[in-house]
Amino acid sequence: MCIVTLNGGHETTTNLISQSIHFLMNDPASMRQLREGEVPLQTAFEELTRFITPLQLQGRRTTQNIELTSGNGTIPAGTEVILSQASANRDERVFEDPDKLVLGRRPNNHVAFGAGIHVCLGRPLARLEAPIAVAAVLKKLPNLTRNGDAKFHRNTRFRGLEQFPVKLV
Ligand code: HEM
Repeated sequence: MCIVTLNGGHETTTNLISQSIHFLMNDPASMRQLREGEVPLQTAFEELTRFITPLQLQGRRTTQNIELTSGNGTIPAGTEVILSQASANRDERVFEDPDKLVLGRRPNNHVAFGAGIHVCLGRPLARLEAPIAVAAVLKKLPNLTRNGDAKFHRNTRFRGLEQFPVKLV
């Protein structure tokens, strides 16, 4: 539990904060909306969390036969499966224009924090700390600009930036 809390609580939030700044800098209209308070901070962060989905995959083992609602067959009991909440969060049957960052998106029933009895323990904390951190960066560094290309690392589970060069002044 300590390991899950440390890993799950650190890398996810770090990646959410850094990528939020990255995607906002890539999207001046959304950056302006956020800076000018056109969209409530919390609404904007639910969308950034959906769009980024810092924890992309989960593992599960089925305890009973699962019939796929798509009609594509049945997963037998006792099978290890990998679920992609990153993909679920871009499902066009749930989200209109899912590949677009829409800060004011509502409703926003994303599954970036999982669901059910194992839903993220740190969800309330993440919802507090990420907006506070990003708002503080934007306020304290009004001249923040890119200084080269950002590069994503190749970890398939945790989505994050390997490098993100910026100029502060
Ligand atoms: C943006 C930030 C975060 C994201 C996207 C995130 C995502 C997730 C997801 C998807 C799960 C479900 C895992 C599963 O079903 O197997 C989870 C579980 C968990 N998260 Fe987070 N998390 C975040 C922040 C945090 C923080 C800040 C903490 C702790 C301070 C934390 C602690 C945990 C723990 C302990 C679990 C396991 C809960 C259980 O199995 O009952 N997470 N998280």
